[in-house]
Amino acid sequence: MPPVTNKVPKFEPNLLGMVIKAFMLKPTGPTGEVPKSVTPSVTAEYGKYLANSVANCRGCHTNRDLQTGAFIGEDYSGGFHMDVIGKPGNFCVSRNLTPDPETGHIYNWSQEKFIERFRQGKLIPDSPMPWGPFLKFSDDDLRAIYLYLKTLKPVKK
Ligand code: HEC
Repeated sequence: MPPVTNKVPKFEPNLLGMVIKAFMLKPTGPTGEVPKSVTPSVTAEYGKYLANSVANCRGCHTNRDLQTGAFIGEDYSGGFHMDVIGKPGNFCVSRNLTPDPETGHIYNWSQEKFIERFRQGKLIPDSPMPWGPFLKFSDDDLRAIYLYLKTLKPVKK
């Protein structure tokens, strides 16, 4: 890109800002041990890595507090309302991906159906789920994610 001369002022918060920065903004780190290396394989362990650390399935398929970003629902149980940008009043809700027999959205899906669904891309035009980029998953990646989702604690919604 062409170089642009633009002096950005130094970040100098006032007293209140410094207090907030020191006591209220807490950086969040990894919740468990970080693996030293990851080997692609058709295992729930690799699926967990893809779902949590690469594709952020958990970030949308768990209910969140929109003010703080904190997770307020049970992992992967869905119910996170996301407003459709530019369409006031419209929203999408993420699905319960846990293996609950009654309310788990993919409980009855075979591995093949799961892969097939990802190959179809976006079907609901306003969906915020990045179906397009997810077309790049290989069948084995999707098998691994499917295996991981089956290991989750079932949550009835
Ligand atoms: C940006 C938010 C977001 C992310 C990231 C996300 N999803 Fe979703 N997902 C949604 C929403 C909202 C829906 C409901 C609308 C739809 O079906 O597109 C949904 C629907 C689904 C469905 C049901 C589709 C159907 O046709 O019934 C499955 C399965 C799914 N997501 C799995 C996943 C997996 C696996 C990942 C990670 C690889 C993931 N999602 C990442 C928001 C997200």
